[in-house]
Amino acid sequence: MNEKISVIGAGTMGHGIAQISAMSGFEVWIYDIKEEILFNAIEKIKQSLEKFKAKGVITDINEVLSRINKTTSLEDALKNSNYMIEAVPEILDLKLQIFKKAESIIPDAEFFGTNTSSLPISEISRQLTLKQKVVGIHFFNPPQLMKLVEIIKGNYTSEETLNKAVGFGKRLNKVPVIVKKDVPGFIVNRLLARLMNASCQIVENNVANIIQIDSALKYKLGFPMGVFELADYSGIDVFYLVFRAMKERGFIGDFCKTFEKMYEEGKFGVKTGEGFYKYPGKGVYKKPDIPSEAGSKFDPWLVVSPEVGEALWLIKNDIASESDINTASMLGLGYPKGIVQMGKEFGLTNVKDRLKKLADITGKEEYDYLLQYFD
Ligand code: 3HC
Repeated sequence: MNEKISVIGAGTMGHGIAQISAMSGFEVWIYDIKEEILFNAIEKIKQSLEKFKAKGVITDINEVLSRINKTTSLEDALKNSNYMIEAVPEILDLKLQIFKKAESIIPDAEFFGTNTSSLPISEISRQLTLKQKVVGIHFFNPPQLMKLVEIIKGNYTSEETLNKAVGFGKRLNKVPVIVKKDVPGFIVNRLLARLMNASCQIVENNVANIIQIDSALKYKLGFPMGVFELADYSGIDVFYLVFRAMKERGFIGDFCKTFEKMYEEGKFGVKTGEGFYKYPGKGVYKKPDIPSEAGSKFDPWLVVSPEVGEALWLIKNDIASESDINTASMLGLGYPKGIVQMGKEFGLTNVKDRLKKLADITGKEEYDYLLQYFD
């Protein structure tokens, strides 16, 4: 009998986690509140499995699908499970209801994982009985392709739980990095928050436009997507809400107004058909046209410098190791090299110069704050 995993929530992340779990041999039970959501999740899983079959990653789509069960009953999803991962919307009360049910139905589970990208793990575990079993297991979009998983130690997470989560990540063929303290945004979203906000502020200050920045990031630095392209791809709503939650919990940074405006206007990117770029229809993805020469006059280090500053902050505060931060940026964001390594190769003095320039252009104090971490 295969081990059973309950994936709670069948959205973008939930369905991807369910798929990779089934591909790794687990018996998966995926839960959501509506049949329609579950139906769409299975359709997306089929489409992705077809791509994997075409590449020879799997041989039999039905064999993988036969391990995925869907249900609108949380009890059925949870009972007799060895593992739980929650990937529901970022609403604390909703998550708490799920964790409370899980600890009462399967107290012997190996761990209770949350894929939250913005809520501290400890805010969830604090209100539970089996606090020591709650751990952050944060995947990256698309979970089927991104090799990284951040394993986050909450204030109550036991070493045993942390180790089990690391082992579980490896069984899904992911590369786990450990986030030693429960800081808002963990590693990758803290890096991204710096890059996205700096880029957005540069546009607001009329220094460069969206295409110039995206082109320079892609063709000068080798990023897989431009930063605005990525915002559209994963969802402007997602990033806006993540950044807002981070700021509410003490992340130092004045977030760019354009994200808020687009969130309020419902321009979320690919999912609504329009974001920083336009798409053929709602949810219809087509790569935006970003010419390689468009960014020839823009220096991408202007917007990447605060990302390096943030990485140095993470190291100095003992949140993550330099090596894990480099791994996280390569495997979670697809960078050609780790962000610290890139910064060192460019020269930290040069990065610092760009950060000073960014501080001058934007007048934002957070860049002065980050400068101290270069010393
Ligand atoms: N399943 C299986 N295969 C898939 C797939 C899926 N869901 N999606 C795409 N593919 C395949 C494509 O069919 C394509 O196959 P081919 O090589 O045979 O044509 C291949 O993967 C590559 O896809 P594309 O050609 O469409 O595009 P790219 O070469 O740009 O690769 C990418 C796509 C891997 C997503 C790459 O662009 C990338 O790494 N982008 C950065 C993504 C990123 O930064 N994610 C993290 C966001 S932050 C986050 O998630 C945290 C959260 O808390 C907010």
